[in-house]
Amino acid sequence: MANTRVVISLSFAFFLCVAHGAQITLTNKCGYTVWPGSQANANSAQLSQTGFELPSGQSKPVDVPAPWSGKFWARTGCSNNNGVFSCATADCGNHVECSGAGEATPASLMEFTIASNGGQDFYDVSNVDGFNLPSSITPQGGSGTCNVASCPANINAACPSELQFKDSGGSVVGCKSACVAFGNPEYCCSGDHNTPATCPSTNYSQFFSNQCPNAYSYAYDDKRGTFTCSGSPNYVITFCP
Ligand SMILES: *[C@@H]1O[C@H](CO)[C@@H](O)[C@H](O)[C@H]1NC(C)=O
Repeated sequence: MANTRVVISLSFAFFLCVAHGAQITLTNKCGYTVWPGSQANANSAQLSQTGFELPSGQSKPVDVPAPWSGKFWARTGCSNNNGVFSCATADCGNHVECSGAGEATPASLMEFTIASNGGQDFYDVSNVDGFNLPSSITPQGGSGTCNVASCPANINAACPSELQFKDSGGSVVGCKSACVAFGNPEYCCSGDHNTPATCPSTNYSQFFSNQCPNAYSYAYDDKRGTFTCSGSPNYVITFCP
């Protein structure tokens, strides 16, 4: 019986070693504080921390299990008024920890599928739900192409008036995608436009892809948006790279 227990313990230890996840380090190079948030997809567990404050110049590592799929974003302009926490952009419901809640649009998204046992990872920066701040995803280690996914441009500064998202003081703090702004099926790739063939790029998605060629500009922008890396890399997400 004792031997059985040892074998089970060793098998479990081996399992822990093989199915290693990724460390994702969030780095804030913006000149202002951001509040990163994360949300796991339906088939994955929420991370142990789903939101925190990240002052300018600071970094924080987050452990992600494998397999895992989900997204990160950063809230801006957050404050605590009479005990109610809220943010100008990408709020997840009046709490520093998002606890499974998603983000308000417009928000730049950093999306990941972390595979286990040396499987392939997928990652991208997405402007499909609009943009709120520049960002990049840099793999560390790993094997395969492992290119940097990024949207380093400040799209807020170039945002067409009909897409602008302003804070209470009137500053442009986000840029809505055409889907978020207008909701038409041809912009949202919904209804009769729910396939790559029936949802081509539009002048609005081209505005985003001209600004950020290495990020998703609309839902079927897979060729531009999708990045892959194998061999269990770690990642750095940089805000304002
Ligand atoms: C896109 O096209 C629409 C309709 O033709 C036009 O009203 C709009 O100004 C254009 N937007 C951009 C960003 O070029």
